[in-house]
Amino acid sequence: MDKTSFIIITVDGPAGAGKGTLAARLAQIYSLDFLDTGLLYRAVALKMLESGEDFNDKEAALRAVLLLNSDDLINPSLRNEAIGSGASIIAVFPEVRSALLAFQRNFASNPSPGKQGVILDGRDIGLVILPEAPCKIFVTASPEVRAERRLKELHQKKIYSTFELILEDMEERDTRDRMRKISPLRPAKDAFILDTTGLNLQDVVEKASFFVDSIYPQAHKNQ
Ligand code: C5P
Repeated sequence: MDKTSFIIITVDGPAGAGKGTLAARLAQIYSLDFLDTGLLYRAVALKMLESGEDFNDKEAALRAVLLLNSDDLINPSLRNEAIGSGASIIAVFPEVRSALLAFQRNFASNPSPGKQGVILDGRDIGLVILPEAPCKIFVTASPEVRAERRLKELHQKKIYSTFELILEDMEERDTRDRMRKISPLRPAKDAFILDTTGLNLQDVVEKASFFVDSIYPQAHKNQ
């Protein structure tokens, strides 16, 4: 596979902006291997919770990172809100971030046979993990819209919460992700900023695909 035909897409943005749904859809359209990197941080948090550790305990977080394996990324409990908050607490530790960096880069350079490339979604993919990626997308939406979407998702899973609780939790998580010293949530200079407030999924996918096509005009597409 030569460099121009090997697709690398990064998708970053705050919680609930629609990164995961967009990345999954782009992965399908362009035949890409997809890694939701939030799952790595969530899996560390879940391991700590299961062994009764405090999320603020850096040493315990590092021990949990060393025990991670790919089976840990498919646990349905990873999606719980408490795990999301725990993930954002352990994500401030530089040692945890650097321990997870190799896994992410290794994923990006080893697509499965038959795939056209890779897509990774997270917070620091375009800036830190794959700064050389030619195609970077930064997805945003107003906090209210993000909280509303998350509430809908939870209701579909029959998990009870309220708009106010989710909004509060999201703002707390955003602040932690944006203010941390290492790899704060920020768009890369060459990222395409996609504000999804007021857009439906089809509009979002259309705009993002237009951008991807401008960078990889030769890409084969499944519709
Ligand atoms: O994307 P998701 O909500 O699953 O991520 C959970 C938490 O993991 C985020 O709030 C963030 O603190 C952390 N994270 C990160 N860097 C990434 C992906 C996730 O710091 N690349």
